[in-house]
Amino acid sequence: MRVPDRPYVLLSVAASVDGYIDDNSDQRLLLSNDEDFDRVDEVRAGVDAILVGANTIRRDNPRLLVRSQERRHARVAEGKSESPIKITLTSKGELDPAASFFAAGDVTKVVYAPSAALAHVEGAVGEVSDVVAAGDPIDLNIVLDDLAARGVRRLMVEGGGTVHTQFLSAGLVDELQLVVAPFLVGDRQAPRFVGEALFPQDSGHRMNLAEVRQIGDVVLLRYLPKRGADV
Ligand SMILES: NC(=O)c1ccc[n+]([C@@H]2O[C@H](COP(=O)([O-])OP(=O)(O)OC[C@H]3O[C@@H](n4cnc5c(N)ncnc54)[C@H](OP(=O)(O)O)[C@@H]3O)[C@@H](O)[C@H]2O)c1
Repeated sequence: MRVPDRPYVLLSVAASVDGYIDDNSDQRLLLSNDEDFDRVDEVRAGVDAILVGANTIRRDNPRLLVRSQERRHARVAEGKSESPIKITLTSKGELDPAASFFAAGDVTKVVYAPSAALAHVEGAVGEVSDVVAAGDPIDLNIVLDDLAARGVRRLMVEGGGTVHTQFLSAGLVDELQLVVAPFLVGDRQAPRFVGEALFPQDSGHRMNLAEVRQIGDVVLLRYLPKRGADV
């Protein structure tokens, strides 16, 4: 049987000028503006799955649904679910089944866990999601292959920093959409866009800058990392 192609991986992030994706308070820091949130909604509507790390679920409690009714209807007209399926990664399994990630939207939720943690994670969220072993430790290649087998052609990775770092350092990102917000955070306790890692660019590769778009007071930078690696 032919193995389906890996999904196209689109990593989306909003960061302050100094590279932070949140501050260190309990309130979620809003980095974008309304026009950009609507752009992100359009991007969401165009993918088959959205992935966030377990810490983003714990800290932000995101719904990860397509907001625009028009876009939801358009998806349904194309034979898709109203919103993309939701994906997360966890080892600890400290996830609340009542969190919006699981409770909001009539879409499949998939939780990838290391094989050794499978039973524990199933105990936590097995009733509200498909819990899948993805290596020990988790291998993102196994995750992408499993998503491909589920029919996912386009995957949107929406953070946080731990997840961004892994996808970028593994060279698995086809497109990076970075929105720069017009302020500084300047708090080393706050989460950054990426942590320390060996990135493919370390070896001298430059990402291909595909687009620069001003959206009100923020700017969208669109990079195609893999294409840059061929140069
Ligand atoms: N500005 C933006 O665009 C944006 C977008 C999203 C999030 N954020 C911010 O990002 C912050 C959270 O980022 P974060 O780096 O702390 O966390 P994160 O990336 O959201 O999640 C990290 C957690 O995901 C699980 N995980 C990730 N990779 C794994 C792997 N390979 N194997 C097993 N489990 C894995 C682990 O969960 P367990 O601990 O459960 O094992 C890990 O602790 C929040 O402040 C949020 O507001 C900002």
